[in-house]
Amino acid sequence: HSADAHRTDLMTITRFVLNEQSKHPESRGDFTILLSHIVLACKFVCSSVNKAGLAKLIGLAGETNVQGEEQKKLDVLSNEVFIKALISSGRTSILVSEEDEEATFVEPSLRGKYCVVFDPLDGSSNIDCGVSIGTIFGIYMVNDVNEPTLEDVLQPGKNMLAAGYCMYGSSCTFVLTTGSGVNGFTLDPSLGEFILTHPDIKIPKKGKIYSVNEGNAKNWDGPTAFYVERCKFPKDGSSPKSLRYIGSMVADVHRTLLYGGIFLYPADKKSPNGKLRVLYEVFPMSFLMEQAGGQAFTGKQRALDLIPKKLHERSPIFLGSYDDVEEIKALYAAEA
Ligand code: AHG
Ligand code: MN
Ligand code: MN
Ligand code: MN
Repeated sequence: HSADAHRTDLMTITRFVLNEQSKHPESRGDFTILLSHIVLACKFVCSSVNKAGLAKLIGLAGETNVQGEEQKKLDVLSNEVFIKALISSGRTSILVSEEDEEATFVEPSLRGKYCVVFDPLDGSSNIDCGVSIGTIFGIYMVNDVNEPTLEDVLQPGKNMLAAGYCMYGSSCTFVLTTGSGVNGFTLDPSLGEFILTHPDIKIPKKGKIYSVNEGNAKNWDGPTAFYVERCKFPKDGSSPKSLRYIGSMVADVHRTLLYGGIFLYPADKKSPNGKLRVLYEVFPMSFLMEQAGGQAFTGKQRALDLIPKKLHERSPIFLGSYDDVEEIKALYAAEA
């Protein structure tokens, strides 16, 4: 149909999810309601991020979080926004946030069947200089809505029903999977709506970019060091890969998803489990990568098979184009 039809056939994220929902006659719109509250919170954080510099919303909040990180004002604000939005949706039972040591158990009158794990503001070190940051979330189904327990969120990533992120960059982009592919939506500020701009995202099978903090090279283990060396000095006469590292996982993963390549946050001698948190960074991004035709590996196993024991557990992660991750899997297999 004509280009005009595309221009007037505004596929908003809400319409998109309702279409998806119609494929599940049993669902009573609960997921759509939950998602609309997540989307609302993202729009609020997006507008706060865009005016952070003007509204004195940059800088430290004066507290340290369970990660041992100095919280930024936007860390605290976005956490409060998401906690309130998720509770008021009436569709959640347990909330796990990077910024809260303990899980939030929603009071019975507002309980729903979903558990949400989230990183309210990812890439905090980039806030004060205006570099892209984001929000990451994953959604599990609660086992028994009358008896929510920590077991409901200490589940392998493969049990997630949905996952996504919102990137606050040159445009505000929302990327979502509900288990049947990956779709990207861009906020049209004049409408205040997320419009489908990247339908059915598939990551290139192989990429020309590697993304890692080379500053940790001194502490890497053998396979990682060998792999990165091979990116820079390929043995098969192919051209070296480019290095792109933004330092916000959301931005590095979004670029990897669209352009291809590999993102690595390896273990190192200082942090044997790497830095990224399993529940609300590793699992959502791994789920998205697999749904887009890529893969995600911890150095020992498929990332989504990990069974977390603690809420803020960390894991090394290698994710991105299928063939690129295969190479690093082979190196770890040879070392095992
Ligand atoms: P957060 O800001 O939510 O704590 O996450 C920061 C993470 C992630 O966004 C990024 O990939 C990584 O930290 C960067 O770590 P380094 O600065 O050690 O490279
Ligand atoms: Mn943090
Ligand atoms: Mn993060
Ligand atoms: Mn964070």
